[in-house]
Amino acid sequence: MKNSQTVQNLEKILANSYVLQLKLQNYHWNVVGANFKSLHELFAAQYEDVSTAIDEVAERMRALDTKVDGTFENFSKLSRVKSGDKNLDSQGMIKDLIAGHEVVVEELKHGIKAAQEEGDEVTADLFIGRSTAHEKAIWMLRSSL
Ligand SMILES: [Fe+2]
Repeated sequence: MKNSQTVQNLEKILANSYVLQLKLQNYHWNVVGANFKSLHELFAAQYEDVSTAIDEVAERMRALDTKVDGTFENFSKLSRVKSGDKNLDSQGMIKDLIAGHEVVVEELKHGIKAAQEEGDEVTADLFIGRSTAHEKAIWMLRSSL
């Protein structure tokens, strides 16, 4: 499985998830406004979910006998999700997070197809589960706009 499309997709999804997790934490810490408490808690719940997923994705790579380049340099190079901006207002933070989750969903959809084509149903299943979680996260953020 080394160098397969699926391994490359796992690497990309790991990087995007890592940057999204940091963005969620950034906004958990810095959000202000009338909805502070609910957004502070929503962002925390989402980064906890993404954090668990990061470990699952990285360990799936190890199960496929691939080393995980767990460095900020690698993650920022591979991630299409970019760092957050602590000065955004709460609406701006929500929109930025929706866009981040959407990038991961897009990568996952591509990853599901490639994993199925390569006969890797286990990774496809992991990606399907993550798609469900990110689509739910998007719904919750949209409902807060
Ligand atoms: Fe906290």
